[in-house]
Amino acid sequence: MRAVLDQLESRRAEARLGGGQKRIAGQHAKGKLTARERLDVLLDEGSFEEYDMYVTHRATEFGMAEQKVAGDGVVTGWGTINGRLVYVFSQDFTVLGGSLSETHAQKICKIMDMAVRNGAPVIGLNDSGGARIQEGVSSLAGYADVFKRNVGASGVIPQISVIMGPCAGGAVYSPAMTDFIFMVRDSSYMFVTGPDVVKTVTNEIVTAEELGGARTHTQKSSVADGAFDNDVEALEQIRTLFDFLPLNNREKPPVRPFHDDPSRLEMRLDTLIPDSAARPYDMKELILAIADESDFFEIQAAFAKNIITGFMRIEGQTVGVVANQPIVLAGCLDIDSARKAARFVRFCDAFSIPIMTLVDVPGFLPGTSQEFGGVIKHGAKLLFAYSQATVPMVTLITRKAYGGAYDVMASKHIGADVNYAWPTAEIAVMGAKGATEILYRSELGDKEKIAQRTRDYEERFANPFVAAERGFIDEVIMPHSSRKRIARAFAALRGKSVDTRWKKHDTIPL
Ligand code: HXC
Repeated sequence: MRAVLDQLESRRAEARLGGGQKRIAGQHAKGKLTARERLDVLLDEGSFEEYDMYVTHRATEFGMAEQKVAGDGVVTGWGTINGRLVYVFSQDFTVLGGSLSETHAQKICKIMDMAVRNGAPVIGLNDSGGARIQEGVSSLAGYADVFKRNVGASGVIPQISVIMGPCAGGAVYSPAMTDFIFMVRDSSYMFVTGPDVVKTVTNEIVTAEELGGARTHTQKSSVADGAFDNDVEALEQIRTLFDFLPLNNREKPPVRPFHDDPSRLEMRLDTLIPDSAARPYDMKELILAIADESDFFEIQAAFAKNIITGFMRIEGQTVGVVANQPIVLAGCLDIDSARKAARFVRFCDAFSIPIMTLVDVPGFLPGTSQEFGGVIKHGAKLLFAYSQATVPMVTLITRKAYGGAYDVMASKHIGADVNYAWPTAEIAVMGAKGATEILYRSELGDKEKIAQRTRDYEERFANPFVAAERGFIDEVIMPHSSRKRIARAFAALRGKSVDTRWKKHDTIPL
């Protein structure tokens, strides 16, 4: 008996060593943790249950019969984050560069299937040289098996990808179909084709970091939702994000204990809006004033900064935030901000996360680059996402809500439940200057007259009361009472239920 116990221990120890001490040292030298060390940081202490530790590949060509490592380059199983169930896989770069073989893929598919059956999220820690070259089409098939499961699980369980090393070729498409992608600065990159292929095909000379590093994907492409300085910070932040999310689409997000009075008044908000309409202010101040304990987890903070998206809590309950940011491009909607917010709204709606929308928007950004880039279709994504959402939605207009952007930003007409405005709100087809110049074109030569027309227009339309008179705004509220009023609104919406007509799926303007 003792001998078999010892044998088990030695097999376990061998599997835990992955590609060996030398390669582990190499991983550490690059500032990276090993696959198992990462899981230790991500999961609650002692909670990890590993599966398939002894799985090996069955390939024989290219000398592969002699290169079998228990676990085959990926550590899989489940554990808990603050006591809540999560399925995980963590690719082991020390084993054949974490490359994906047929059996490596089967291990990932196994935990994905279990996650969907048991209603718990999947977090994938990616660190892989892509398809295992020696296995050819078998590894491509393995990827496709994972892709298909990503799509099946989408909207059923949250899926989070952390890119902690190379991620090239088809390997990027599994993360791309998950809900969130986070990267580690300077040690991770993602691209469909690497710098060498780019040079051959397009003659462009570009480094891996420029082509697909964290900066590129958080600031330019918006493929990634955030980036962190090192493995430990990234994994700790994923734990924080995880706490905002429900386990699956049939459960509500967890309610956390809170120590912040929901009726807290914030007198400083009464002076947040500058006297001049042309002067910006930081919308984040308002978000932090409304959130429990000023705690806000921002998503895509470095991309399309003219709109803010992220998670906070009110009375301990998760709320998704979408807010125009007046300090960037005056908070206008454009291609990037519409895409960013649309994706976020759809995630919240899929996972029963109520949405708070803060509006200060002068309209859509004009210009040929916007029109040629398809701002019509991209703007429609946000309009579509809000119109389709059935989660509780509370909207607060702080200042401008002009034109089509008024409709798009969770107006009453497209489905928001409670619509508030500050007394400083201006809800109109356009700003006073633009409006008078169009309406009174023949008087443009007479500066005095135009100024009077502008003042008349401002008096008549640059306020929230025209909309309030029609019931499009439920109440004009004092800025200092925003947290209290919004908390009460969400509390009253907790039982919201909406019947939707059966359809296979919609045809969102992708
Ligand atoms: C098998 C691989 C591998 C792979 C790396 N290795 N990638 N083995 N298949 N795809 C092995 C290396 O041989 C090496 O083994 C070890 O992993 C570490 O690799 P290094 O090259 O020494 O490490 P590094 O210098 O850090 O470079 C990492 C890398 C590079 C940038 C990822 O290895 C690389 O370019 N690999 C190939 C990437 C690639 O083209 N993949 C296929 C993409 S196409 P030893 O024994 O020396 O430690 C694809 C199609 C999927 O994925 C399509 C799905 C639809």
